[in-house]
Amino acid sequence: MKTVMISTVTQEEAGTTLGAGLIRNGELVAFPTETVYGLGANGLDGEAVNRIFEAKGRPNDNPLILHIARKSDLKKLWAHVPERAFPLIETFWPGPLTLIFHKSDIVPYEVTAGLETVAVRMPSDRTARALIRKAGVPIAAPSANRSGRPSPTNAQHVFADMDGLIPLILDGGDCRYGVESTVLSLVGEPTVLRPGAVTREMLETVIGPVKLAPSILKPLGEREKAASPGMKYKHYAPDAEVIVVDGSPEETAKCIVSLYYDYLEQGKTVEVLSTKQTHFRYRGLNATEIGDRVHPETLCANLFRELREIGSACDLILAEGIDTNEEGLAYMNRLLRAAGFHRIDASRENSKK
Ligand code: TXA
Ligand code: MG
Repeated sequence: MKTVMISTVTQEEAGTTLGAGLIRNGELVAFPTETVYGLGANGLDGEAVNRIFEAKGRPNDNPLILHIARKSDLKKLWAHVPERAFPLIETFWPGPLTLIFHKSDIVPYEVTAGLETVAVRMPSDRTARALIRKAGVPIAAPSANRSGRPSPTNAQHVFADMDGLIPLILDGGDCRYGVESTVLSLVGEPTVLRPGAVTREMLETVIGPVKLAPSILKPLGEREKAASPGMKYKHYAPDAEVIVVDGSPEETAKCIVSLYYDYLEQGKTVEVLSTKQTHFRYRGLNATEIGDRVHPETLCANLFRELREIGSACDLILAEGIDTNEEGLAYMNRLLRAAGFHRIDASRENSKK
């Protein structure tokens, strides 16, 4: 199959009209959102949805998110909307918040991977909403990467993973947030299953206490698998190995410099993911400044791109761990998964030397 790329910066009208036609015909279209690029299909057509799993190589017990263009589209998809959903929708939609509740009958089990619950979000990206509106159906869309790879934050990333597998990629440039939406379950006590740009702190100012799924910063326990299917698979893995080093910025940098030379001696090519606060400590080493620790959203915006780009050019990435407040939680959730939870405590490691 030939994969066509259309810029929605210069051709939004033509691109979204073509895309909407393909979606209505049961085909797949990759499109930009404010979080990451999505791989969309008609969310009410089980057969079309199955094509997503094929193109991604995604395990079929991992459910998808339905994307809508208007708040009123929600009514048809949820069996009933819980009271506390309304203030959340008013505050955070359109935007990077996905809500989970009991599904209605029109939502096919192909979307929910057999679950009785469904995940829905209303993106803020203009192209995404124009595409959904013109398609006239909710669009089921996971991130547009091959399963296990870092999520795509520009159209070139999508092309690298999906060339020949899908007919159309809408190119809207770089995604604003760079990490996927916050996934909040409203079944039972409100629980964040996946952290994102809408932080736990932000949610709590609107609805009070919100729990965090235990698997956010560690591997999933046996008993959690059903609640959060997506979290049990290998995720965000670049070609290179990743090690996360935890500690104060000073201890962390000292430890990374020492590890860097150890691995270099073993014949490995190594890259450091540094931050604005620590970059100067890696003079003479291969280091890329990924963002500012005080503004973790800047780290989130660059992480997947750097995992793809640096990750294909070296054997090992040494990355700094950061505080897990606010958007720091989303950053560490993705980084630790990219590292397969391989983490080193800087002060313990430094005291060995
Ligand atoms: O920002 C985003 O959310 C992007 C863009 C394209 O919108 N989409 C995205 O989709 O990240 P995906 O498929 O890569 O991640 C969906 C996550 C998975 O972890 C999945 O397990 C979870 O949402 N999920 C979906 N439906 C669920 C349900 N009914 N119960 C529990 N988890 C669910
Ligand atoms: Mg994904």
